[in-house]
Amino acid sequence: MADTTHPEGGHGEQKSRRDFLYLTTAAVGAVGVAAFIWPFIDYMNPAADVLALASIQVDLSAVEAGQAITVMWRGKPVFVRHRTPGEIEAARAVDVDTLKDPQPDSARVQEGHDQWLVVVGICTHLGCVPLGQKPADPRGDYGGWFCPCHGSHYDTSGRARLGPAPTNLPVPEYSFMSDTRITIG
Ligand code: FES
Repeated sequence: MADTTHPEGGHGEQKSRRDFLYLTTAAVGAVGVAAFIWPFIDYMNPAADVLALASIQVDLSAVEAGQAITVMWRGKPVFVRHRTPGEIEAARAVDVDTLKDPQPDSARVQEGHDQWLVVVGICTHLGCVPLGQKPADPRGDYGGWFCPCHGSHYDTSGRARLGPAPTNLPVPEYSFMSDTRITIG
C-alpha cells in the first residue's frame, strides 16, 4: 500500500509548505484486506475495482496543524483537516441547538484525535465540492468551507451553518491505525 505523495514534489517540498496541502487520488493506496476477502465472498460482483477502493489508508504525518489534504475514496473527495486549537475551540463553542443539523463536534471526531476532522467533501445542497482546502480558497463565515454554487457555509466541524445546505458534511467511517495513519472505509 502506498504512502501519500505530493503530485508536484517529494516529501521535502511537502513539509516545507506552510499552508494547505492538496493531494489527489495518487495520495492513497487500497487496503488489501477488504479487497482480498470480498471477491471470495461475492465473486459474482463485477465491481472489483470499486471493492479495491472500499478502504484506503491515508498517511497524515506530513499534514501540520492548519493544513488539509483531499483524498479520493469510492469516487468521492474526502477532506482531512488538521485543526488548530482555535478551530477546535470554535467548533466546540457552538450552541448545538442553533444548528440546522444539530451535532456536537464530539460526535464528528474521534476521541483522542479531535485535531483531525474527516468529512466527505461534497456539499449537501446539490453536490458541489466546497472550497476551503487550498491556500487561497475562501472558507466561509465560519472558517470551514464555502460552497460558491449557492452560498453554503460550513464551520470547522464541517457543519452546515449558512446557506441552503440542509445537513452537515458527512463523516465517513474511518479508524486510526496509528496517530498519523487512518483507514477510511
Ligand atoms: S451545491 Fe453547495 S450551495 Fe448549492
